[in-house]
Amino acid sequence: MTTQNLLTLEGVHTHIGAYHILHGVDLAVPKGQLTMLLGRNGAGKTTTLRTIMGLWHASQGRVRFGDKDITAMHTPQIAELGIAYVPENMGIFSDLTVKENMLLAARGAKNAAQIDDTRLKWIFRLFPAVEKFWNHPAGKLSGGQKQMLAVSRAIVEPRELLLIDEPSKGLAPVMINNMIDAFGELKRSGVTILLVEQNINFAQRLGDNVAVMDNGRVVHSGSMAAFSADAQLQQSLLGLAL
Ligand SMILES: Nc1ncnc2c1ncn2[C@@H]1O[C@H](COP(=O)(O)OP(=O)(O)OP(=O)(O)O)[C@@H](O)[C@H]1O
Ligand SMILES: [Mg+2]
Repeated sequence: MTTQNLLTLEGVHTHIGAYHILHGVDLAVPKGQLTMLLGRNGAGKTTTLRTIMGLWHASQGRVRFGDKDITAMHTPQIAELGIAYVPENMGIFSDLTVKENMLLAARGAKNAAQIDDTRLKWIFRLFPAVEKFWNHPAGKLSGGQKQMLAVSRAIVEPRELLLIDEPSKGLAPVMINNMIDAFGELKRSGVTILLVEQNINFAQRLGDNVAVMDNGRVVHSGSMAAFSADAQLQQSLLGLAL
């Protein structure tokens, strides 16, 4: 049995203004698995997520979600198909409460009672801080708690694919462990995840697959197990000290 790919990029080029940023990205994200997108600073990871989400448009190549060609679609249409994006800056409204932030992310809900109760309880269990600070301004949360809120917003409605940009950035080790547990559970719930990560330890503990970018291209892809076992490959692709 072959694994089905939920998302595929074929030869994707992206220009931002006059700058040619992505130079033919080929990437496959298998359904129901967690794929780690690694690479040095400036390699094109964030630009890849933004291109998938339609925030930048590919000037060449194809982005496919399931059997749909989403290359030229606009962001709201792409979100409607079941893709959620947690950007690096998290997109949280600091002046609004945690609850209000969650309500804004739940398209159908006008008040908290309309957010699916089972789902909300599940989110509270994954991220207790969201429940604890429910009526507090989101701006008061710590960096890690804001990350948790940002991911909670992305899953307040059922999604097929989550695109998450560096959720572990600036987190203390204990928070990283909580995050790993939560993503593990998300994965078990059947969601497909494409996650950008700099923390190689985080990446190895959570990833099923890995794609490494350099200079606007994917230069390596395969199983995380094989990548983890190959220190020389990690060194050459990421410049990690052995
Ligand atoms: N709005 C923009 N205008 C011009 N150039 C940009 C813009 N956004 C990104 N770039 C350039 O595109 C390249 C890729 O950036 P990108 O943010 O995708 O990298 P990244 O892999 O996410 O890096 P990091 O690990 O630092 O987040 C970089 O050289 C960056 O300077
Ligand atoms: Mg980035």
